[in-house]
Amino acid sequence: MAQIIDGKGISAEIRLKLHQEVIDFVSSGNPVPHLTAVIVGEDPASQTYVKNKILACKEVGISSETKLLPASTTQEELLQLIGQLNRDDCVSGVLVQLPVPDHINERTICNAVAPEKDVDGFNEINMGRLALDMDGFVPATPLGIKALLEHCNIATHGRNAVVVGRSKNVSLPLAILMHSDGKNATKALDATVTICHRYTPPKELAKHCRQADIIVVAVGKPGLITKDMIKPGACVIDVGINRIKDEKTGKHKLVGDVDFEEVRQVAGHISPVPGGVGPMTVTMLMHNTLQAAKKQAASRRV
Ligand code: GUN
Repeated sequence: MAQIIDGKGISAEIRLKLHQEVIDFVSSGNPVPHLTAVIVGEDPASQTYVKNKILACKEVGISSETKLLPASTTQEELLQLIGQLNRDDCVSGVLVQLPVPDHINERTICNAVAPEKDVDGFNEINMGRLALDMDGFVPATPLGIKALLEHCNIATHGRNAVVVGRSKNVSLPLAILMHSDGKNATKALDATVTICHRYTPPKELAKHCRQADIIVVAVGKPGLITKDMIKPGACVIDVGINRIKDEKTGKHKLVGDVDFEEVRQVAGHISPVPGGVGPMTVTMLMHNTLQAAKKQAASRRV
């Protein structure tokens, strides 16, 4: 039976350390780090995600604010707000919760956040820096997965990893972080990485997965990864979040992309949904916000 990767517990440990780091930073005469979250529209999932981020800020001693804008906000108005936040010395980190309404271009918005305040790591400069093994902000989910692997002592150097999914905010930066050089600034994982996606035929997907020592799946398809696709002892990280109706109880529940009950019988490690990657993503956002505050304080001193 696989060891369950306790993302919630690992995340709580990291948050305690971050809280102490924030206390030390502020006691040295620095301002309290501050995160501003922007939501455009009334998507209930976005409101829940941002609420969790704000609660995490409280937990680690970061101050925060949520700007709720109506769905009718124009791209120009949103860009103006981002510009104001970029110029405000009291704001360490800025995030615009995605998705934004259809009339707003997501890439234009991500690129408008100043790279030094881009705690989501979605700006083209930070993405480029990650791709080139340079110091910058790495998106929180890939950073959280790296922390989980490290915490559980999962070997990655020279091993086979499969990333299922090719989203620009999760799978792509994760694949970069997994294959890049551990000796460079991003302290990456040195794995041999295969990326599978919607056009990978199911037979090929199964074949690639069976070769993998580490599988990370971030697609949004419940039950995509089954027991027969797993090399015995492999580490399986599930990033999927799917709300489905439980056949037995008739109630809704959250599941990932992995058939958890089956796969845990052959895997060496497995992350659950909920309680696996999710809490780590929010914790790594806190990590990035503190790093942003530290870098900004250092650049003000010179
Ligand atoms: N929407 C879903 N996940 C995220 C995230 O990590 N950051 C932002 N800004 N929006 C999201």
